[in-house]
Amino acid sequence: MKPLTVYLETFGCQMNVLDSELVRGQLLAAGYRFVENWKQADVVLYNTCSVREHAENKVYSRIGLVGQRKRTHPGIVLGVLGCMAERDGADMARRHPQVDLLCGPGELDKVPMLIDNALRTRRGGPGGSVDPTTAPAGAQGGRREVATALQGNTHRRSSTLAAAEDQLEMLDLARAFSPEQPRHSAYVRITRGCNKHCTYCVVPRTRGREVHRPPDHIVDECRRLVDGGVIEITLLGQTVNHYHYDHGAAVSLNGVQQPQVGANFGAAGPKVTPGSRVTSFADLLQRIHDEVPGLQRLRFVTSFPRDFGDDILDVMAACPRICRYLHLPAQSGSNRILKMMNRGHTVETYLDLLDRLRVKLPDATVAGDVICGFPTETQADHEATVGLLERARYKNCFIFKYSPRPGTPAYERLSDDVPDGEKRRRNNELLEVQSRISREIHQSQVGRTVRVFVESISERESRNRNTADPSVTLGWEQPRQVLQLAGRTDGDLIVMFDAEQSLVGSMVDVRIERAGPLALFGSLAGEPVAV
Ligand code: 5AD
Repeated sequence: MKPLTVYLETFGCQMNVLDSELVRGQLLAAGYRFVENWKQADVVLYNTCSVREHAENKVYSRIGLVGQRKRTHPGIVLGVLGCMAERDGADMARRHPQVDLLCGPGELDKVPMLIDNALRTRRGGPGGSVDPTTAPAGAQGGRREVATALQGNTHRRSSTLAAAEDQLEMLDLARAFSPEQPRHSAYVRITRGCNKHCTYCVVPRTRGREVHRPPDHIVDECRRLVDGGVIEITLLGQTVNHYHYDHGAAVSLNGVQQPQVGANFGAAGPKVTPGSRVTSFADLLQRIHDEVPGLQRLRFVTSFPRDFGDDILDVMAACPRICRYLHLPAQSGSNRILKMMNRGHTVETYLDLLDRLRVKLPDATVAGDVICGFPTETQADHEATVGLLERARYKNCFIFKYSPRPGTPAYERLSDDVPDGEKRRRNNELLEVQSRISREIHQSQVGRTVRVFVESISERESRNRNTADPSVTLGWEQPRQVLQLAGRTDGDLIVMFDAEQSLVGSMVDVRIERAGPLALFGSLAGEPVAV
C-alpha cells in the first residue's frame, strides 16, 4: 500500500521546532512520508503557538483553508498540535469542525496513535467516499469524533509519581536513534514547562509545570548528535538556567531514570533533598563541555534574569566552546510594570546581572525581549523601557505588543487599556532605538576577523538562485560556484559572506567589512578551520 503522506508546519518558538522534529521522527518510523505541499498530504498537522494572538490567527487562517479543501477531499485528516490545542481544546473542535485531531505539547508521544484513530473514523480514505455514520469533523450531520490528547487539568507530570510515568521522555530519547538527515546544528531539550507565572504568559497553562530531564540523558543525547556530525547544540528550556536535578529524589522506571518536577526557586535557590547530590545548570554545562569534546559550540536559551548565578558565568568563562551569548528577556524597563508582570526581578537586579556578565565575559553579547503596552503602561513606563534598551545594549531585541491571552492572570484581572495605535507607536520607537544600538554593536566589529559557523545559503541568495549566475572564480585553479552564505559568530551575530556552498556546516574565519542593523558582511579570511 502507498504510504500515507504528512504535511507538518511549525509556528512559534525553538521548542516547537524541536517538538516537530521529534513528531516527524516518530511518523517516519511509523512509515509515513513527508511532503512539502499541504495540498498533497493525507494528514495535515500544524504545530502551534499561543504566546500571542497574532501567532494563533495565522493558524486559524490555515485551518480555514484546509476546511475548504475538505469539502472536496473529505479524507484529509487535520491535526492541531501544541499550545493552541492545549489552550483552546474542546472549544477549537467545536468552532472548527474540520479539526480531526488535537494534541497538547505534553502529549506529543501520542501523535501516531491519534492519527491512527482519526484515520479510522474519517470520512472515507483519500479521495474515498463519505460515510456519514463515522464521519468526523464537519460531516453532514454525522457523528463527530476528534482524536484528542490534552493535559487539561490533570497535568500528568504534576507529581513525582506522575513524572515516573513520563512517556514524553521516551520521545526525546528515541530521537537520537531515529533516522536523521545529516545536519550540523541541533536543539536538545533540558527542561519542559515553566513555573514562573509571569502574568501575561500562557506557557505555564499550555506546557504545564517545569520538568527537568536526567542529566545523563541530556549528555548522552548531545554525544550521539555530535557522533552523527552535529557541530553546534542549543540547549532549550523556558527558563534554562533554572535547570536542577536532585539525584536524591531521582526515580527510575524499568531501569530508565525519569524526569523530575522542578522545585520552585526561593531566595536561597531550589529546595534540595538533605545530603543529596544536585546537578545544577552550571554543572550540566560543564559536563556537556567536558564529556562531549567533539562539540564545537554549546548555546542555551532562554535565560530567566532571576537566580542567574555567578557559577554559570564562571563555567562559561572557563569553557571556550560555550558561546558567550545570553538571551535574557527583561520585558520592561519599569519596576512598576515588572511587578505587575510578576517577573520577580527589578531593573536594578537585571542590570546588575548584565554588569556581572560583562565583568566576567567582556566579549559576551546579549539579546532581549520586551513587551510594550502592558495594561496601565504609561508614557513614563515606556520611556523607562527605552532607557533600559540604552543601558542593556542588546545585540538585538525582540519587541512585542502586549497581546491579552485568555487564561492568563493579566487577561483575567487587567483591562487591555493601552490603545493599539499607542502600542504600535511605542513598538516603533523601541525598534528605532534598538536598530541604532544593533548597528553600533555591528559597526564595532568592522575590521575584525571573526570565527563563523556557516549555517546556510543566505535568504537573499535562495530567493535569487533561479535567476542569478554566480559563476565566479575564487582564485583557485578550477572555477567554482560562489554564493552568499550566512552564519553566526560565537556571540550570535549574523555574518554574510561569499563562498562555495560546500562550506555550509563548517567553521571559517571571516574578515568583517561592513555592518548593517541586522547582519555583518565580510569575506573569507584563509582556509576553513579544521574541527
Ligand atoms: N503578549 C506579548 N508578548 C508576549 N510574550 C509572551 N507573552 C506575551 C503576550 N501575552 C513575549 C515575551 C516572551 C516572548 C517569547 O514572547 O517577550 O519573552
